[in-house]
Amino acid sequence: MKSDVLIVGGGVIGCALALKLAEAGCKVLLMERGRLGCEASSAAAGMLSPQTESLQPDEFFNLCIKSRALYKNFVAHLKEASDIDAQLREEGTLFVSLPHLQDHADEWAQWQLEAGLRVERIPAEELERLEPAVTKQATRAIFMADDLQVENRLLMLALAVAIRRAGVTVIEGEAVTEVLLDHQQVAGVVCGSAKIYAGAVVIAAGSWSGALLEKFGVEAITIPARGQMIAVQSAAIRHVLHSSQVYLVPRNDGRLLIGATVEYSGFEKGNTAKGIRALLDAAIELVPEVADAEIVETWSGLRPDTPDHWPIIGESGIANLWLATGHFRNGILLAPITAELMMQSLLLNRTVDQLQPFGLHRFATLPALHS
Ligand code: FAD
Ligand code: GLY
Repeated sequence: MKSDVLIVGGGVIGCALALKLAEAGCKVLLMERGRLGCEASSAAAGMLSPQTESLQPDEFFNLCIKSRALYKNFVAHLKEASDIDAQLREEGTLFVSLPHLQDHADEWAQWQLEAGLRVERIPAEELERLEPAVTKQATRAIFMADDLQVENRLLMLALAVAIRRAGVTVIEGEAVTEVLLDHQQVAGVVCGSAKIYAGAVVIAAGSWSGALLEKFGVEAITIPARGQMIAVQSAAIRHVLHSSQVYLVPRNDGRLLIGATVEYSGFEKGNTAKGIRALLDAAIELVPEVADAEIVETWSGLRPDTPDHWPIIGESGIANLWLATGHFRNGILLAPITAELMMQSLLLNRTVDQLQPFGLHRFATLPALHS
């Protein structure tokens, strides 16, 4: 039977949307060419840190703040729906200033305070009390008490269970090769020699989303930005820590994640000596005892970046074709709000106002179709 909505891509964005739609009563088919969560969504660090990662107040920042506000309910709901706890942590983030590194912490602390957000300036002595393992070279820190973090691999496992229990049909190991057109509108997708029909198609294929739009003349709309990561065994810190060079994320299981590079090297994954050295140098400088910690894992993932670094969410301009992609460095954070607003848009059959700044139309208009 034909699905109401066919989602291409089983990362955090595709899965979170599938769950919302299924719970709203839609018949959903999700197609993933590998395994659910096999790409960026499991490679991520799981920080839910809009205040540390945004440079100025704008619509993107507001979207991130709204999504963070949804997170506790999102994780609680997933636990109920899957029996898997994604380990939300609420210690907040400390951005640490080091004497020889330039940062703009004072500037962004100021506009965030003016915007009514919780931001605290922490002198060096207080930082030493909060996180004794941080280098004595640190001059001060900024504390964002409302920032969160989640164990994103568990989040993906929880989503994988929850969507199946909610009735989503999941096909893994099959790549969508093309969007299927019929009489100037999208009618489904092509998968090898099979045609699969659906009422609406949502492209949520992360860094690979752009490839499915090339047939409409739109190129390089998603750009892979490689991030290398390291995990060491260490209980040195309790909060998520940032400097302007590196971040450190403590996990419940005793691992400490060290991330991440941002590299534009095509679709090449893997770890490089240069990348690992830069991360370790910066991590050891921030928390010297990391030098003696055992390395337990290294990995990398491809963030779906866009030409202006904002996500592309909403209608495409072609009937029945929708986009939920390009979440770059904040896809884990933005999953709940993307799913909520996309679900509303699909049910209304028009992009809701809150998503207007994130439309594809800001880069390209899909050309008129000829059947
Ligand atoms: P993906 O997770 O990449 O999922 C897309 C899926 O589509 C893939 O599983 C892929 O196999 C599938 N696919 C592709 N093409 C096809 C096709 N033709 N047919 C079928 N399936 C297809 N975000 C945060 O919020 N906080 C963080 O701390 C954070 N840290 C990060 C650290 C690193 C090192 C990296 C790499 C990313 C980080 N991110 C973080 C960003 C976040 O991981 C991404 O924004 C998010 O995972 C994007 O989710 P997605 O579902 O769009 O893409
Ligand atoms: N948000 C963290 C990263 O993209 O590395």
